[in-house]
Amino acid sequence: MANASARTRVPLVAPRVPIHDGDVARLVHTFYARIRDDAELGPIFEARLAGRWDAHLAKMVDFWSAIAGETGRYSGRPQRAHGGMGLDEAAFARWLALFEATARDVCPPDAAAFLVDRAHRIADSLMIGLGIGPQALDLPA
Ligand code: HEM
Repeated sequence: MANASARTRVPLVAPRVPIHDGDVARLVHTFYARIRDDAELGPIFEARLAGRWDAHLAKMVDFWSAIAGETGRYSGRPQRAHGGMGLDEAAFARWLALFEATARDVCPPDAAAFLVDRAHRIADSLMIGLGIGPQALDLPA
């Protein structure tokens, strides 16, 4: 990988560890409270989610519970949800930095490492789908 050394990455792969539902709920609620306060990301989320934050938070608890514990509680279309917002690599970097800081604040270290690892992988996949980021694909039209 030619550009691997230029990228700031968490160590891959963090192994699956037991994660308590309480940690997931606390992570999601604290993370989105910080997102809403963030000068860069707050307005992007608010533009989409004004009036329906409660449903979003419930969905995100299900999403992260599914990743943490393979509960299968989430079914949705994350790729489609992120189109049309003009997201760029910097926005994802900010999202990941906030997520990582929050996970380390509210979860035990091994749980935080696991969740941050998965967040990076999913962010990469979302960015690939959106055609942005270091792994953006130059697909034929
Ligand atoms: C700059 C980065 C990001 C922004 C601005 C963003 C913003 C949003 C917004 C506004 C929604 C609600 C869409 C709607 O209901 O209309 C959403 C949904 C969602 N986001 Fe993100 N997001 C970002 C990154 C991520 C990342 C990195 C992940 C996962 C690690 C993620 C996971 C999800 C999931 C699972 C949903 C629910 C999709 C569904 O409706 O099933 N997002 N996001």
